[in-house]
Amino acid sequence: MMNGAAASDSQGKCPFMEQEGWDFTNPDLLEQGIPIAEFAELRKTAPVWWNEQAPGKGGGFHDGGYWVISRHKDIRDISKNAADWSTAENGAIIRFEDDMSQDQIDVTKAILINQDPPEHTQKRKIVSRAFTPKAVGALEEKLDASARRIVKAAAESGKGDFVHQVAVDLPLEAIADLLGVPEADRVKLFDWSNSMMNADDPEFTTDPMTASAEILGYGYNMAEARRKCPADDIVTTLVNADVDGHALDEAEFGFFFILLTVAGNETTRNAITHGMNAFLDNPDQWELFKKERPATAIDEIVRWATPVNVFQRTAKNDVEIDGQLIKKGQRVGLFYGSANFDEDVFDDPYTFNIMRDPNPHLGFGGNGTHFCVGANLARMEISLMFNALADLVPDITKLEQPRRLRHGWINGIKELQVDYGVK
Ligand code: HEM
Repeated sequence: MMNGAAASDSQGKCPFMEQEGWDFTNPDLLEQGIPIAEFAELRKTAPVWWNEQAPGKGGGFHDGGYWVISRHKDIRDISKNAADWSTAENGAIIRFEDDMSQDQIDVTKAILINQDPPEHTQKRKIVSRAFTPKAVGALEEKLDASARRIVKAAAESGKGDFVHQVAVDLPLEAIADLLGVPEADRVKLFDWSNSMMNADDPEFTTDPMTASAEILGYGYNMAEARRKCPADDIVTTLVNADVDGHALDEAEFGFFFILLTVAGNETTRNAITHGMNAFLDNPDQWELFKKERPATAIDEIVRWATPVNVFQRTAKNDVEIDGQLIKKGQRVGLFYGSANFDEDVFDDPYTFNIMRDPNPHLGFGGNGTHFCVGANLARMEISLMFNALADLVPDITKLEQPRRLRHGWINGIKELQVDYGVK
């Protein structure tokens, strides 16, 4: 399934806790799968655990390590408590490449997800205008047609890689549609997004800094064009928004653009691929989905997939959690990949159950100020895609086990070979 590594030996010791250099953000770890056995052990015995990082091994950070927060309850509490926890101080991303400079990390601070109130509150109000139920709902018909076109084209090839034939296109189209990016520029957008996110995987060779500069420039130009010549679209709304006397300037729009392409693209793609893989591993659930199309399936797919394994916060004050003192300035990793399998919250957490209800997973974050602004758009995309798959390729089967992405915090699949089952 996700990762079968045993966490404790027969004496109940946890070898990984003693292992020199063990790091829950080591890209080699997620390449194997979410370390579910180790997380289960932490939730039970050390829910706030210090993960030491040797000098130069902090994925861009130089502070000796971070606290691993593994329980659902603690992750939700921290996410909801902006008074004690900051994303501005060290950003939300817990791991970059080891040789990332402070200047490069500082650039990411202009992004919404890396801001604290009051800047965050104000910016989020503006950005939310792109995600009103009306704006998202308006895309449904078009995205439904896109999902069916994508699946039909994949089916015509008989067999192939589900990631590239099915999962990649819809999330990208959704963002491009939302922001009014013309068809001709969409491939560029996808390449930039990939380069920015996959630096840890040796199969991807493009420079992430160049890609982010290019995407920033693209957003900048788009904002400038709409300022000069307003249109009836979201970009115009965002650059002309007047929320408490503020709008997004060109650079801010550029950073928002980066955030959306990255946040909405990889994540939804991986949710769709993990979801398909889960259905292929659990044929009874696929049969059930085809027959009943339960709405609860969508959140179970997101829980199961947990496309973002972890984001981080930094303590603004000394804080105690589960009896452990966390000092002001220290970082904590909110491991959604642990919370979503917390046996105190989910019955039978390692069973993929599309009827699961309630399903208070933290795949979109811990219900705090940074809760995923695109959650409803993502849910709609996943729903449209699986309905199209169930209608058009009901007999799809798996040809090989998925090949996983090597990444410090994204739980990704880069290849899933399938037979679409269409004669
Ligand atoms: C299954 C797909 C998705 C997953 C698993 C996901 C996950 C997340 C998570 C974990 C966060 C951080 C929450 C927190 O810190 O409390 C987040 C924030 C965010 N997401 Fe998503 N996301 C998905 C899809 C999308 C889509 C489709 C978009 C937009 C097109 C989007 C845009 C954003 C933005 C802008 C933020 C930052 C919000 C803020 O800082 O206020 N996401 N997402």
